[in-house]
Parts: sequence; C-alpha cells; structure tokens
Amino acid sequence: MTALAATGLHAGYGDIEVLRGVSITARTGAVTAIVGANGAGKSTLMRVLAGLLPVSRGRLELDGADITKLPPHARVARGVVLVPEGRLIFPDLSVHENLILGSVTPHAQGVRDETLAQVYAMFPRLAERRSQAGGTLSGGEQQMLALGRGLMARPGVLLLDEPTLGLAPAIAKDIFRIVPRLRDAGLAVIIAEQDLRRTLRIADFAYVLENGTVVSSGKGKDLENDPDVQRAYLGLSGH
Ligand SMILES: Nc1ncnc2c1ncn2[C@@H]1O[C@H](COP(=O)(O)OP(=O)(O)OP(=O)(O)O)[C@@H](O)[C@H]1O
Ligand SMILES: [Mg+2]
Repeated sequence: MTALAATGLHAGYGDIEVLRGVSITARTGAVTAIVGANGAGKSTLMRVLAGLLPVSRGRLELDGADITKLPPHARVARGVVLVPEGRLIFPDLSVHENLILGSVTPHAQGVRDETLAQVYAMFPRLAERRSQAGGTLSGGEQQMLALGRGLMARPGVLLLDEPTLGLAPAIAKDIFRIVPRLRDAGLAVIIAEQDLRRTLRIADFAYVLENGTVVSSGKGKDLENDPDVQRAYLGLSGH
C-alpha cells in the first residue's frame, strides 16, 4: 500500500530552486531509498516530506490525504517522523530522557514503556548506557539514540537522512541491519544515503536524485549497474 506519495515537488531556499519536479512514492512495509551525490537534494527532499521546508509547487499525500500544507508537528501526529542528518540529540540529557522525549504524540505516550522496551531490545548498547549523557555517547551510539528517539514517536513513515554518515563501517553495518527489521515491522522507511551499494541492497525501491530531479528509479538491486546511477555518483561511490 502506498503510504506517502509526492507529485511534482518544487522547493528551495530563497531564490534558489533545489527540487525541480520530484515525484516519489513510498509503500508501507518497504524500504524506499533516495540516493545521489552530495548536493543532489536528498536532505532538502527529506525536509519537504517532514514539513520543515514548504513547497512552491507540487502535492504530497499520506494514505491518500493531502498533507502538502500541514506543519511538521501535524505530520508527526500522523506518523511521519524524520531522523535528521547530524542526529541532533540533547547532549546534556540522559539516553533515557532523550528517548522519552521522542514520545511526542498521545498515541506514542500511551504505549511509551512498551516502545522503550522494544528500542532497548533493538539497541542493547543504549540499554547499557541509559543513564549516560547523550553528548558523551560515541558517534555511532548517538545515531542509534537518534533512531531510537524517532521510533519512540511510533512512526508509520520513518524518514532517515544519512543514518550512517561518519560512522565506522562496523557500526554502519548495524544500522543497515536494523532498517530491514523496521520494514518487516510494517513501517514505510524512506532512507537518504550516499552509501550506494549497501543502500540499494536493502532498498525495495530506489530513486536516483541528480540536481534536484529524479534521473532514474527502480528496484534496488536492478539499479546497481544502471549507467545513470554510475554517472550520478561519478567519482563518489568509491567502494
Ligand atoms: N539552508 C540552505 N540554504 C541555502 N541553500 C541550501 C540550504 N540547504 C541546502 N542548500 C543547497 O541545496 C542543495 C541541495 O542540498 P541538500 O542538503 O539537499 O543535498 P544532499 O543531497 O542532502 O547532500 P549531502 O549528500 O551532502 O547531504 C545544495 O546545493 C545546498 O548547497
Ligand atoms: Mg544531505
């Protein structure tokens, strides 16, 4: 089932148009990847989907309802939750407190303890460090905390912007292991990533963004050898 459908999105900053007619759909119980080089517009698209950046043109639907003009908090209330690039956890609050703050909606609050137990089961490192200040966690642990906090909001659509950025390969691997589990739990996961190969491997469907437009799309595995994808990543994929 289509959870999120974007049609012809245009958006940017001031006079600079970054997204130029982007159309994507994300299904429930599927991982949808947005891949592309630095500056392609991945984070801009994520901000638009979360409602943090307005569109100048285009339409966004959630489960068939128009949410194009809904502010971020109203989207969170409907289950659209962004885990932003750069993590943005509260450094002085404990792991536990950071997680609790993720339960922002009445529904999420009602099932808070249950969700907390699930998050701790998914990330044992966080459970061990529940009293530790968020700012003293390692980069990888902070990413787990940011992801855990996003899950505390009980999302239906989870937007992950570069969840492995700056992480050691072993930790990045952990994140790539967890994303399919979230899909299997029935979430619509939209992931923006630069790690092309690993992302395409876990993606059910992927869109290649280049200069703010979708230049290619298809099943994750089919895109691995797509010439457009190679071009969009020229000199950047590396491994
Ligand atoms: N707040 C802003 N003000 C002005 N321009 C911006 C702003 N944020 C992003 N841009 C520009 O928009 C374009 C797309 O940036 P965006 O962050 O969406 O790219 P990205 O695909 O997420 O790149 P990366 O892989 O480096 O995270 C870039 O040219 C960038 O300089
Ligand atoms: Mg980005």
